[in-house]
Amino acid sequence: MDLEELPGVGPAIAEKLREGGFNSLEAIAVASPAELVAAAEIGESTAAKIINSARDAADIGGFETGDKILERRKEVGKLTSGSQSLDALLGGGIETRSLTEFYGEFGSGKTQIAHQLAVNVQLPLDKGGLNGSAIIIDTENTFRPERIKDMAEGVELDYGEVLNNLHIARAYNSNHQILLVDKAEKLAEELKETEKPVRLMIIDSATAHFRSEYVGRGTLADRQQKINKHLHDALRFGDLNNAVIMITNQVMARPDAFFGDPTRPIGGHVLGHTATFRLYLRKSKGEKRIARLVDSPNLPEAEAVFSVSSVGIRD
Ligand code: GTP
Ligand code: MG
Repeated sequence: MDLEELPGVGPAIAEKLREGGFNSLEAIAVASPAELVAAAEIGESTAAKIINSARDAADIGGFETGDKILERRKEVGKLTSGSQSLDALLGGGIETRSLTEFYGEFGSGKTQIAHQLAVNVQLPLDKGGLNGSAIIIDTENTFRPERIKDMAEGVELDYGEVLNNLHIARAYNSNHQILLVDKAEKLAEELKETEKPVRLMIIDSATAHFRSEYVGRGTLADRQQKINKHLHDALRFGDLNNAVIMITNQVMARPDAFFGDPTRPIGGHVLGHTATFRLYLRKSKGEKRIARLVDSPNLPEAEAVFSVSSVGIRD
């Protein structure tokens, strides 16, 4: 069913909705009226009507029995990190339809893991991949094709092909970053029926722009609200495309900490509630890194050791 077939949606409104990233019935069904009002310049009640018809047509949004959810959980894919111990920490790999946050200090391996996942997602299922392509939102200009080459060779994939299946956008500020998730939705829609549908979206770093743009206490609530919405958009992308959402986050010093680790992730609680898996990375000796699973819906808090080697992430 096309958007145009929804009552109240003509070609002009459909066009605006698509431009705003609402390019499927599912995307509209889970939108809020305010989002549609902003995207399509329509009234609140029209927006509500459109959402309701999309919900009926897309058959989502109601209660489900547990066995249906179990059935859908079976569709959840698991992407290998390249390290068996890190995969085991996450119950077999990084899950699709979830948001996984890696946070830690500089050099702890966040960007290296991002690169590795962008390569591994292209592997077939029996090798721990998802046979898909990746979208990378690069906010710090740290994407390096040279590093992709090392990692592609490390898993015996053709470097040229691997690069072809990576879609990278540099985000220049937080608003641009937010907009890129909309664009990602359009790109994913275009690639949906191809050999390599999008199965991974990376936002590296998810918080750096927000942190530098929103300075001072007065703007903190505003910043949190923006980050919150941004990450929910990302999570929705993961759900609609059965994709892994990987975000990175820095830590900041916590001068008031007397016990435990004197750092904490930026974004605090909002990010904590949105991320379904949170991993805290620390540097260890040489190439070794320690990952601690801090928060997960169904796994115990535990640690794993992995390394950042010349061919990528390994045990
Ligand atoms: P920030 O973005 O600065 O917060 O850090 P990050 O957590 O993203 O760190 P990143 O993933 O960039 O890790 C950088 C570390 O990875 C370096 O200090 C190296 O130890 C390692 N690394 C990067 N490139 C290579 C490489 O080509 N070979 C090897 N063996 N290690 C590398
Ligand atoms: Mg980095």
